[in-house]
Amino acid sequence: MRTNTCGELSLKNKGEKVTLCGWIQRMRDMGGMTFLDLRDRYGITQIVFNMETNATLCEQVREYGRECVIGVTGTVAERSNKNPKLATGEIEILASDVHLYNRSKTPPFTIEENSDGGDELRMKYRYLDLRRPNVRANMELRHRLGMLIRNYMAGQGFLEIETPFLIKSTPEGARDFVVPSRMNAGEFYALPQSPQTFKQLLMVSGYDKYFQIVRCFRDEDLRADRQPEFTQLDCEMSFVEHDDILDMFEGLVRHLFSAEKGIEVGALPRITYREAMDNYGSDKPDIRFEMKFACLKEAFPAGKFGVFDTAEWVGGIVASGCAEYTRKQLDELTDFVKRPQIGASGLVWIKCATDGTYKSSIDKFYTPDDLAAVAAATRAQAGDLILIMAGADEKTKEQLGTLRLHVADLLGLRRSDDYKPLWVIDFPLLEWNEDDKRFYAKHHPFTSPKPEHIPLLDTHPASVNANAYDMVINGVEVGGGSIRIHDRTLQKKMFSILGFSDEEAQKQFGFLMDAFEYGAPPHGGIAFGFDRLASLFGGAESIRDFIAFPKNNSGRDVMIDSPSTISDDQLKELNLKTTA
Ligand code: AMO
Repeated sequence: MRTNTCGELSLKNKGEKVTLCGWIQRMRDMGGMTFLDLRDRYGITQIVFNMETNATLCEQVREYGRECVIGVTGTVAERSNKNPKLATGEIEILASDVHLYNRSKTPPFTIEENSDGGDELRMKYRYLDLRRPNVRANMELRHRLGMLIRNYMAGQGFLEIETPFLIKSTPEGARDFVVPSRMNAGEFYALPQSPQTFKQLLMVSGYDKYFQIVRCFRDEDLRADRQPEFTQLDCEMSFVEHDDILDMFEGLVRHLFSAEKGIEVGALPRITYREAMDNYGSDKPDIRFEMKFACLKEAFPAGKFGVFDTAEWVGGIVASGCAEYTRKQLDELTDFVKRPQIGASGLVWIKCATDGTYKSSIDKFYTPDDLAAVAAATRAQAGDLILIMAGADEKTKEQLGTLRLHVADLLGLRRSDDYKPLWVIDFPLLEWNEDDKRFYAKHHPFTSPKPEHIPLLDTHPASVNANAYDMVINGVEVGGGSIRIHDRTLQKKMFSILGFSDEEAQKQFGFLMDAFEYGAPPHGGIAFGFDRLASLFGGAESIRDFIAFPKNNSGRDVMIDSPSTISDDQLKELNLKTTA
C-alpha cells in the first residue's frame, strides 16, 4: 500500500514518486494550496495539494478531518520554507492522488505531545493516546530496553524460560489475584506475584542461568511506581555467591546505560542497609546529591530542651545556601513534615547567616555558642540552613529522609537526566510486626541468612542479616534479590520462624522443600522492575506511560471497563453461585 513511511524521506529522494499512508495530523488551507501533515509511527511528512493543477483532488481533501486515514501518492519536492525541527522538514510531497481508507470522528483530545486531554480521558481512549509522539517514544524505549536485555542475557548464557501464570499463592507480601477453577469446584489458582518458586525449581533442574521478562500480579495499593500487573526481568543463577550476582547484573545495568543513553555509570557503590538508613533515612537512597544526615543528639548540650533530651534520635540536614529562607518558606517546610503522610510533630531550623551569626527556632533554649557547635557538627557553612528533627530512631530518620528529598526538589538537585545507581546490601532478614506479634520476611521466605548469622536465628532473630540486595537508581528500587536457602532443614526453620506450622509449611511449600531433597544447588537471583527501568530511562516518575494499557489508581482499565461483573451462568459454571 505504501512505498515509504512518513518519517524517512529527504532531499535524497527529490523527484521520486512515492505513496505514503497515515493519519491526518492537521490541514491548512492557504487559498490556492492546501497543506496537510500526514503522520504515522515514524514521523510527519508535509503533503501539498495545488488548486490550480488539481482542483478536484484539492476539494476532495479539504472535506477530510483530523485523524482520517489516507494514502497519498505524489512526487517528492524540495520545500521553499524548510522546517529544521522535522526529520522530513526539507521536503514535501506534491500530491497527485489520494485514497481515503477511513474517516475519523473528531478525537476527544489533541493528538500532540502536549495534549489537552486529562488523565482519565486519555486512558479511556488509550488507543488514541498511544498515537501521541511522546507516548510512542516511551513504547519504543521500552522495546529497545527489552531487546538490549534479551541480547545481553543470551550473550551471557542465560536461557529464557516461561513459567506458569495459573499457580498457587507465593507469599511476597502483597495479596494474590485469584482465578476460580471451573474443573475443580471450590478451588482457585493464584496469579504469580513473581516466578520465585519456579525459578528456584529450575535451578534444581540444572538450568543454571535462567531469565524471563515476565508479567507479575499483585493486589496492592497503587502508586506512581506500582501497577497491579507489571513486568519483571526475573533472573536466577546456580553456583554463585552474593558478589557474583552483583557483578553480573551491575554489568547488565552498565550495558543498558551505555547502549541506550551513552552514559558510563562506572562501578556501582555498595552501601549497607544500615548505612542507607543512618545517612539518608531510606533503604532506597537518592544519591544524586549529598545532604547526608548529621547525628546531633550529642551536639546539643543536655538539660536545655526537653524534646531533644528525651528523643531517641536527633538529626539534621543542611540545605545549602538557604539561610535567607523567609518565615513563610520555613512554615511550609514545617507543614510539609507535619502532613499525615509523614506525621512528624515538628521541625527545628537554624540559619547560619553570612555574617557568622545564628538564628533559630530554638533560640530561647540554646546559646549562640551551642548553635555554633551544632552547625560545626553538621558542617554547615555561612549562608546555609540546618533542618533538624527529633524522635524515635527509625521513624524520625524516615521522616527526615522524606524532607531531604523534598528540599532537594526545591533546590533542583534531582535532575532526571542524572543517573546514580547503587546497591543496598545486608538487609535484615526479618521484620517484626507489632500488630500481628510475629516476624515477616523482609524480602521473601526463601532468602538465605548471612551464613555467619545462622546461629543467631535461634537467639536473636531480629539481628540476623540476609544475603539480600537491592539495586536503587535515583531513589527508586529498580531491583531486588537474594541468595536463596537451598537446604530443606534451614528452609523449614525459616518457615517456623515466620510462624508456619510444619503442616502449613508442607501444604504450601512442600513441593519446594521436597525438591531440595533431590540435589538443590546453591543458587541466588534478582528481579528488576522492567516498567520502572523504562520510566527511569525515560526520565519520568510514573510507570503508567511506559505500559501500553495500564490501570488507573483504583486498579481499573477505564477503556475496556474492567473489572466488571459476570453473568449468573458464568458464576454458576465457576461454582461461585449455587442457586439461580
Ligand atoms: P521484589 O518484590 O523486590 O522481588 O520485586 C522486584 C522488583 O519488581 C518491581 N516491582 C514493581 N513494579 C511495578 N509495580 C509493582 N506493583 C511492583 N512490585 C515490585 C520493583 C522491585 O524491585 N521474587 C523477588 C525477586 C528475587 O528475589 O529474585 C521479587 O519479586 O522494581
